[in-house]
Amino acid sequence: MEPVKIGLLGLGTVGGGSVTVLTRNADEIARRAGRAIQITHAAARQYDPERIEGLEQIGRISDDAFAVVDDLAVEIVIELIGGYSPARELVLKAIENGKHVVTANKALIAMHGNEIFAAAQAKGVMVGFEAAVAGGIPIIKAVREGLAANRIEWIAGIINGTGNFILTEMRDKGRDFADVLAEAQRLGYAEADPTFDVEGIDAAHKLTILASLAFGIPLQFDKTFTEGISKIEPQDVAFAAELGYRIKHLGITRRTAAGIEMRVHPTLIPHRRLIANVDGVMNAVLVKGDAVGPTLYYGAGAGALPTASAVVADVVDLVRALTTDPTNRVPHLAFQPGELADTPVLPIDAVETAYYLRITALDRPGVMASIAGILSEEGISIEAIKQKEPAEGETTVPLILLTHRIEEAAMNRAIARIEAFDGVSGKVVRIRMEGLEG
Ligand code: HSE
Repeated sequence: MEPVKIGLLGLGTVGGGSVTVLTRNADEIARRAGRAIQITHAAARQYDPERIEGLEQIGRISDDAFAVVDDLAVEIVIELIGGYSPARELVLKAIENGKHVVTANKALIAMHGNEIFAAAQAKGVMVGFEAAVAGGIPIIKAVREGLAANRIEWIAGIINGTGNFILTEMRDKGRDFADVLAEAQRLGYAEADPTFDVEGIDAAHKLTILASLAFGIPLQFDKTFTEGISKIEPQDVAFAAELGYRIKHLGITRRTAAGIEMRVHPTLIPHRRLIANVDGVMNAVLVKGDAVGPTLYYGAGAGALPTASAVVADVVDLVRALTTDPTNRVPHLAFQPGELADTPVLPIDAVETAYYLRITALDRPGVMASIAGILSEEGISIEAIKQKEPAEGETTVPLILLTHRIEEAAMNRAIARIEAFDGVSGKVVRIRMEGLEG
């Protein structure tokens, strides 16, 4: 049988990795797919031939991406150029031309996935996006297929390798934020715009996708609450550790009676949880299903070969599906397209979680009592308190409080009142806290 002809857009970190994996494992991949897979046409603006194994086997390489999606011989287009545009136009054009698509582009899927999947559905083609979430971990397959029997209750994941790498290096080696970020960029982990990593946008793209797969709702990136790691201070990492917690940057989505939570933010989690020990560029996703209970998926969340592993697995899936009935394929968002629900997404004010607060308190009688009074009036119950001795010559002390779960709106009111109180100096540091109990 003729090899399946692939058009490849992008020969950067993931594009180069995909060529390498398809070359190195060509025989095994063909045995799995049932046909050989050949990249016949690629487009890239620039690439490093030294880093790509098997580059010479690509039929034709130019810098014209639209020529690839218009190439009549190409059956599957792999989009690995990233970003919103021209990736969106290229993917839509490939679909219009009747080609299946594989992409690692989480920004594209989170923002334009509804449009792209509708176009693919109408045309009877598939769009694979396993590599868009958690790099090499087959989390989309797990949620969409492996857990299809379950009513999913919640998902919590470390889904940005760069952010986790930075937090880990800062905690373990006391390294400087900018220095670790530069290393992540050198290693090919970071996004083209690294603020996407450190401000949580990349994780929010991925969380948006996971929420849709878990709960059968349209992609709604604009409703995902997003807070990054750039304001995490070493003293909070240390205080959290003293209290038995680690700070991780988590994406959390949960089904509640009132609606669906979609949020990305630094989170204190008990250090004894397996996920609290996921370090460096590794990702991990905890999924709680009603039948299966908690399940945990772990692996490399970024990097050339791990991400290529997911890209090539999608290609194998598509090759197998080439001859199947288009109406009987695994739906893009796990639920049949006509069955997506309009369940509301909760604003962050309505989300209920526990909190770590660090308050800079004046060292004088009655301050602690007044703060406790404000919390009590807002219905907030304190779980633990820690107060440090003032440093030599200092008139303020850090006061650390852990609270029970409470609606964010009540916490916002309490924080505003505490900050207005003259026994307190500066802003209250607030980090959300989750037990992640099974
Ligand atoms: N910048 C991303 C990360 C790459 O660090 O996780 C993988 O999506």
